[in-house]
Amino acid sequence: MTLNIQQISPVLGAIATGADLASGITDETFEGLHQAWLEHDGVLVVRGQALSHEQHIEFSRRFGDLDHHVVTQFVPEKYPELYRVSNKPGEGGKYLGNPQAGNHWHTDNSYLDPPAKASLLYAAEVPPVGGDTLFASMYRAYETLSPALRKVLDRLEAEHHFENALSNFSTFKATDRQIDATPPVRHPMVTVHPDTGRKSLYVNPGFTTRIVGMNADESEAILRFLFSHATQPQFIYQHRWQAHDLVIWDNRCTMHYAVQNFYGVGTRDLYRTTVKGDAKAA
Ligand code: SIN
Repeated sequence: MTLNIQQISPVLGAIATGADLASGITDETFEGLHQAWLEHDGVLVVRGQALSHEQHIEFSRRFGDLDHHVVTQFVPEKYPELYRVSNKPGEGGKYLGNPQAGNHWHTDNSYLDPPAKASLLYAAEVPPVGGDTLFASMYRAYETLSPALRKVLDRLEAEHHFENALSNFSTFKATDRQIDATPPVRHPMVTVHPDTGRKSLYVNPGFTTRIVGMNADESEAILRFLFSHATQPQFIYQHRWQAHDLVIWDNRCTMHYAVQNFYGVGTRDLYRTTVKGDAKAA
């Protein structure tokens, strides 16, 4: 099988065919996928994969150590590395996964220190229409700001807090233990990608609560502007899922948003692994 990579949108993303992840891939094929992921600004769709949970986890580990999601309610038994995103009803009609996961623009685990490097979301079942995932390029968001604003942002830090997404975007309630395990953290508002050397804007509506050192009005106005700047249509790729897609995204240079228009349309059942980021140099 020969690996084939094709760009899927003008701004970010590529689709890979010719790799059968279930049967194991060579280091050379992995390098081809990894390079394509970096070159296409952090979104790679690997189509037509029939993956068991074990194979999904094993392939994900090629990107680094895997995180265990703080919201254990949606972690499948025996697979602490997975997080289930699903509107499939289980016993008593309760959803088997979190159907609301990602119902707002966010970057996975920006509320942790270090924050996540990558996420690998595998579609077991998708509705006939709806439930697309949007990806925004945070490279592009940064690069299209004026030099004057970039210079200011380059020196600032922002606070990120898990609870922010729960209070603003979710009907799901976390336990006190989960909240205590995720205190607010600070990250630079502009980060340099360790592999590409490019700068990206690192704030997101899901978890970023404030700009450190500013008063509340200033911080809110600037964040509101940055969120709306970063989510302009020309910076976005909209992924229309097919069953057995594995989509790999780079949380260091993208945000994403799961469109919640699939209720009553069909089952959307996906599993995500999250790759831990590198610790900051001391
Ligand atoms: C997520 O944010 O991890 C879920 C994205 C999706 O369901 O499309």
